[in-house]
Amino acid sequence: MKKRILVVEDEDKLRRVVQLQLASSGYEVDQAARAEEAIALLDRADLVLSDLKLPAMSGLELLAIAHRQNANLPFVLMTAFGTVETAVEAMKNGAADFILKPFSLDHLTRVVEKAIEVSSLRDENRKLKEELGHRYQFDNIVGRSGLMQEIFATIMRVAPSRATVLLAGESGVGKDLIARAIHFHSPRKDRPFVKINCTAIPENLMESELFGYEKGAFTGANTTKPGKFEQADTGTVFLDEIGDVPANIQVKLLRVLQEREFERLGSNKTLRIDVRVVAATNVDLRAALEQGTFREDLYYRLNVVPINIPPLRDRKEDIPFLARHFVDKLSPDLGTPVETISDEAINRLMEYHWPGNVRELENVIERSIVLCPKQVLDAPEIRLDMEPVSRSAAGSPALFVLPEGMSLDQYEQSIIKEALNRASGNKSQAARLLGLTRNALRYRLSQMGIES
Ligand SMILES: Nc1ncnc2c1ncn2[C@@H]1O[C@H](COP(=O)(O)OP(=O)(O)O)[C@@H](O)[C@H]1O
Ligand SMILES: [Mg+2]
Repeated sequence: MKKRILVVEDEDKLRRVVQLQLASSGYEVDQAARAEEAIALLDRADLVLSDLKLPAMSGLELLAIAHRQNANLPFVLMTAFGTVETAVEAMKNGAADFILKPFSLDHLTRVVEKAIEVSSLRDENRKLKEELGHRYQFDNIVGRSGLMQEIFATIMRVAPSRATVLLAGESGVGKDLIARAIHFHSPRKDRPFVKINCTAIPENLMESELFGYEKGAFTGANTTKPGKFEQADTGTVFLDEIGDVPANIQVKLLRVLQEREFERLGSNKTLRIDVRVVAATNVDLRAALEQGTFREDLYYRLNVVPINIPPLRDRKEDIPFLARHFVDKLSPDLGTPVETISDEAINRLMEYHWPGNVRELENVIERSIVLCPKQVLDAPEIRLDMEPVSRSAAGSPALFVLPEGMSLDQYEQSIIKEALNRASGNKSQAARLLGLTRNALRYRLSQMGIES
């Protein structure tokens, strides 16, 4: 969408030239010769470009009025040499920029472009913050079980402090969500939240990623670069998968935790920072302690406030609430008729063991919604993860067992639907995936009540 610029200038010729220039740079332009006329046009403007000296009401007065209506409207002032001081004053009053007359049209365009860009970046940030602040409220971390209620209370209690928190729990139990909740309920909520996924960073790059480097620290270090810890200064660092940190980095983390200081790679200047550390692990760190792969001193520094998040199968009473939450959250964006989930469907979800925890539940609900043609998501439409569970008892050959809670028919149907899904609805391709002829697939689809 084109941005709209309001040009306020009493000199007709200049206003005309500016208007033509901006229009040819791709903007919509409104114009006014007097501030009084401009007021009515403020509403629809994305930026105001106004002369400082105008016949009756001045550009500064217009700026004040504009910002009373919308404090985020970028306002650029044009002024002659004699009035630079006033222009500086205007900046203090919230003008985005000013242009000295006479100016080149190129310069004008650049200033306008920059002001628009800055303002849309700000808008974006504001929206993101609002969204995040909303998403991580406790009511969005769903959990009615006593275990989760206790976790909420712990989050409330530790969030305001700078205490280090260690989150432990299987993959998909909500460690990320809880780390963010701690940050967004802390006094640091408007400061950076920097997540470091310790498994994702190759070992030889970890030090420079975390602590940054000086120009010339190693071949290829052409510039100085601050690390994640510096980026997180005054905010929160989330160290995910802390169990994967190599020994040499463990020593450096220990120092950051103890002294809040470190050096960039290739520098001997010590930097001090103020960060809150939240760490997470899905492995039992105590086992790593015994094996000697994780430093004991670091463990105790991290484990100031331990929060253990139980797997979903140990708090099945959360499942109905989570399921309804995901249906409400996901269906509006998936463009399906699904509005609710039936009790029978929930019962089926309750019977399953959820090795992938809440993440798996969310995925199952999403997949089921996508393929459900009705308003109510019902038991037969629930599509559990389909890896066949093969259990082999000692001495006996591996036995194929249907996923929990599924009949053979349901299982066959879910495989067929999955194949169609993967083939984006193309039946020949789906048939190939299934090792069936097209006719055999068509027969089965008609049995399932799926004709075309
Ligand atoms: N209690 C919960 N309420 C709502 N959504 C949850 C909850 N726990 C986890 N989720 C969702 O499940 C997914 C996995 O959670 P995540 O925090 O990434 O798990 P982990 O970091 O432990 O692997 C995310 O989409 C998250 O929003
Ligand atoms: Mg995670």
